[in-house]
Amino acid sequence: MKTGGCRYGTHRVIEPQGVLPQPARILNNDMSEIWDNELLIDVIRLNVDSASFHQIKNKLIAQGHTDIEKAFGEHALELTNRTGKHKNEDTGSGGMLIGRVAAIGPNFEMKDKIQVGDKIATLVSLSLTPLKISKIKKVLLDKDQVEIEGKAILFSSGIYAKLPDDMDENLALSVLDVAGAPAQVERLVKPGDTVVILGANGKSGVLCNKVAKERAGIAGKVIGIVRNPNYIPTCKATGCDEVILAQATDAITIQREVSRLTDGKMADVVINVVNIEDTELPSIMAARDRGLVYFFSMATSFTKAALGAEGIGADVDMILGNGYARNHAAVSIDVLRRNPDLMQLFQERYID
Ligand SMILES: NC(=O)c1ccc[n+]([C@@H]2O[C@H](COP(=O)([O-])OP(=O)(O)OC[C@H]3O[C@@H](n4cnc5c(N)ncnc54)[C@H](OP(=O)(O)O)[C@@H]3O)[C@@H](O)[C@H]2O)c1
Repeated sequence: MKTGGCRYGTHRVIEPQGVLPQPARILNNDMSEIWDNELLIDVIRLNVDSASFHQIKNKLIAQGHTDIEKAFGEHALELTNRTGKHKNEDTGSGGMLIGRVAAIGPNFEMKDKIQVGDKIATLVSLSLTPLKISKIKKVLLDKDQVEIEGKAILFSSGIYAKLPDDMDENLALSVLDVAGAPAQVERLVKPGDTVVILGANGKSGVLCNKVAKERAGIAGKVIGIVRNPNYIPTCKATGCDEVILAQATDAITIQREVSRLTDGKMADVVINVVNIEDTELPSIMAARDRGLVYFFSMATSFTKAALGAEGIGADVDMILGNGYARNHAAVSIDVLRRNPDLMQLFQERYID
């Protein structure tokens, strides 16, 4: 075993030297010998984050590919062989994975107790995780997931969750991918708040609807924004009091409709959980003066948000969607356990 590795994984950074693994372009994904502070994982399945998955899928379609499953698999192989990780080179985002613990370096910082053979989910992004794919087994286009044979490394500072025994592993993978969103909503929403959720029918959307309604309570109001009328029943069943039908990029319609539903008061908290670009201003314009906008979407542009808000004179606080919040894995799984209807929805959507 190699020694002297950095707890943040800088020992695996090939290019550019001196940065941490997330911003790095190329990581060393040689799995033949690990460092003594690393955890080696036999990977079962990747969950590519939604913004990344859809961007790659659309890029492959635009390039003229017709067998998208095959092309996606080849893209994942090429990307990880060339860069040592599955970091989307356009969105900069990753996802996470599940797998079995293959080896634990003696100096790896153990958080929850795990042993070789345990099934875990990594709770750090694929955009910083050394990954070597030996075989693409299946690309699940409807779930943003890829079943593979391969190995990954968790650095000593990395966090992970042992998969719950009573939950399907692919369902757990889906929930844990977006665990930061409901955990942050739990912190940000107060009783009586009006909350707007862009992307309310998505994976994080339905979790956020539920937590937002639990927190805002009977005196509060949760308004979901979706573009498809078929989503309205799910949004209402998961916590939305009202649903606006609009493109998430349509700032003027969203501002007008949120104003109508709030008697001009607008939202105290806006949660952005869509997977497309150009939704910064619609989110900002749904918020009240000194309101709060939480950008969980990986397609968010800091420049568009900052300059867009300035350009329309909107004095709002904007929060970057940190993928990590203390206990976020437990919070998100707990939301499902407490809400059988939500659990059923996740089972229908995310179990193969
Ligand atoms: N911050 C973090 O750490 C972190 C971690 C994981 C994921 N993410 C990001 O969080 C976001 C949500 O992830 P997710 O897994 O919940 O995604 P998801 O399940 O794919 O949901 C995205 C939602 O956005 C909606 N949407 C897309 N285009 C729209 C439009 N023009 N108008 C209205 N709605 C539109 C989609 O609806 P349709 O069905 O109509 O397309 C879908 O319901 C993604 O950007 C993802 O990359 C962030």
